[in-house]
Parts: sequence; structure tokens; C-alpha cells
Amino acid sequence: MAEHILEVEDLRGYYRGVFGVVHAIDGVSFSLDRGVIMGIAGESGGGKSTLAQLVSGTPPPLLHHEGGRILVDGIDIYNIDPEELRTEVKCKRMSYVPQASMESLNPVKRIRDFIFDVVGQRTRRRVSSSERKEEVLEMATSHIKALGLDRSVLDRYPHELSGGMKQRVVIAISTLWNPKLLVIDEPTSALDVTSQKRMIKALLNLKQVGIIESMLYISHDLTSLKQLCDECMVMYAGKIAEIGDMDGTIDDPLHPYTRLLIAAIASYDSRGKKTCKLECIPGSPPDLRSPPPGCRFHPRCPYVMDVCRSREPGMFMVGDGKRGASCWLLTSKSG
Ligand SMILES: Nc1ncnc2c1ncn2[C@@H]1O[C@H](COP(=O)(O)OP(=O)(O)OP(=O)(O)O)[C@@H](O)[C@H]1O
Ligand code: SF4
Ligand SMILES: [Mg+2]
Repeated sequence: MAEHILEVEDLRGYYRGVFGVVHAIDGVSFSLDRGVIMGIAGESGGGKSTLAQLVSGTPPPLLHHEGGRILVDGIDIYNIDPEELRTEVKCKRMSYVPQASMESLNPVKRIRDFIFDVVGQRTRRRVSSSERKEEVLEMATSHIKALGLDRSVLDRYPHELSGGMKQRVVIAISTLWNPKLLVIDEPTSALDVTSQKRMIKALLNLKQVGIIESMLYISHDLTSLKQLCDECMVMYAGKIAEIGDMDGTIDDPLHPYTRLLIAAIASYDSRGKKTCKLECIPGSPPDLRSPPPGCRFHPRCPYVMDVCRSREPGMFMVGDGKRGASCWLLTSKSG
């Protein structure tokens, strides 16, 4: 058995089109241990969704895997044939729930019929006999319940469900085959505070009851990341700015960008009302068709030095080697 459920080595993914070449993921390396939930944070455009699409083996048409390896449970997913990727990796070892996926339910089908279609497509065998339908419904019910929903949702149409319920139904369907790794992109972004809390609880329960083993959870919301994740990766302009355990990252951020990101968290009172003004990070993320030389954060960094403008910092690990950041300021701290 491979040591890590996920290993990403020097990954590069670019969008190529009439607009030019967007260096959306540029030299990203990390690994995810079995049983761990890792959160991916960062501003809009940082490359979180692009990374998820590449890791899940589902890059959209303009996104190209330019280099680097992705090993899922030891399988090099860009070095196997598509049929093996479909049967051995997708659903079984890894499932991906994209951003805004609640819209993927079919509005004119009851949830149960939609599930029959999904299972039929996946297994290439139509779910038509009553025996097979019962079997599938039983499988779906355990997942629906693990996500805090009642079995009765199976008989409903999507429009009869709230946004949070639809999102949890999509997650239940995506995890029907108990994937070892769940890659999930912004599942709480369209939800109110109460539904967000329910979602976090549901995701934790998925792991507790053993439906999934590990998770890559993407969110720009550091509060939900802190509630859910063991580890955290902060992305900026297609690169990893900082990586390490969740609490350490929040309590003692290493990278200037992480510090500014944390300062930008809004606080909410018990009724979900915003109680402090959001502090914005000065400037805006770069155009990734021509990213800045050196450290990509240098045009916005309050601590910028000459070296930052011309030389790209590597990942400097600190302490026990489990935390690190890509910043020249760490040269003196790293071991
Ligand atoms: N289809 C596309 N064609 C060209 N460029 C794209 C496309 N999709 C994303 N990009 C660019 O790739 C970069 C990374 O975008 P991505 O959507 O991965 O960021 P993100 O961190 O997920 O942002 P958000 O928080 O808004 O979801 C950005 O510069 C974005 O403009
Ligand atoms: S390398 Fe330089 S510009 Fe980049 S974050 Fe560190 S101090 Fe700021
Ligand atoms: Mg995104």
C-alpha cells in the first residue's frame, strides 16, 4: 500500500486558448497522509479549483496537464489508460465534487431516479430490475443518513430541497463507492451560516463512519477550514505559499500572504451577523498569463526585499519540518 493517499510532484497545469497561456498551477508539490483532511485556502484566482480538477483527473478542455506527477493511492493518474482511470481510480479511490455541483442534479427527476442513472452510467449496467433498484437504494440510504439527511429525500425532486440539502445529496452520490479520498471544492460557499455548520458536521461524519478516509477540502473561508481540517495549504497565484498543520497555520502564520488572509476574516455573532469590517489585502492577484518574476506575491507584499523581485523562493521548512512557506524571510528560520 502506498504511504500517502495522494502525492503531487512538481505539478504544472496551464489554460491554453485565444486568450494566451494562463500559468494556473506552476510547480506544486505536496502529499496527503491517509486519514488526514487537508484544506486549501486562498483568494479567488489562486488556482484552488484548477488544482482540484487536475488532481481528480478531470481537467476541462482548455486546461492542460503540462508536467509533474499525481499519484492517487500509488497510481500515477496521468500515466494510465483512461479506462483504468475510470474503473480503478475514479469513485473507487477518489471522488470529486466540483464547485457549484448542486446544480448538477436533474431538475425533472426524483433523486432516486437520478441515482439509478448515475449508478447505471458508472457500472455500465442499467439499474432496471426491482431487486437492483432496492440494492442501490439501500447503498444510497446509508450515505444519505451519514450526511444527516432523511431517507425521504430520495423521493423528492431537487426543487423540493434546500441548497444545503442538494449539496449533501450530491456528496452522498459522489461517495456511493466509498472513495478513499474525497476532493471537494467550495461546498459551503452558497450556503447560509447554519447550513455551512451542518455541512461541516456532515463531512466530518463521513470520515468518522468510514465512508471516506481522507479529504482535500477547498474553501476561501478560513473559519470552515479551521473547523474541519487537520492540515492546511495556502495557495497564491498558482503556487503554494504555505503548508502545515491547521492550528499552527492560523495561530502563527509563516507567510506574509497567510497573515493578510487571516486578517481579512470577518467575525460573525451567534445570529450570523458580521461584526467586524473585512480588512482587504492591498492590490490584486496577478494576471497569470504573465506572472511577476521572483516571488509572485512581491508586488503586494509589505516586506518585499530586492531578492524577492528577481529570485523565486523555494519552500523553506521550519521546526520539525512539517510546516513550511515559500518566502525569503524564512531563510534564517529554516533548518
Ligand atoms: N477556463 C479558463 N480559461 C482560462 N483561464 C482560466 C479558466 N479557469 C480559470 N482560469 C484562470 O486560472 C487561474 C486559477 O483559477 P481557479 O479557478 O483555479 O482559482 P480559484 O482559486 O479556484 O478561484 P475561486 O476562489 O474564485 O474559485 C485564474 O487566473 C483564472 O483566471
Ligand atoms: S519572498 Fe519576499 S515578497 Fe515574497 S512573501 Fe516573502 S518577503 Fe514577501
Ligand atoms: Mg475555485
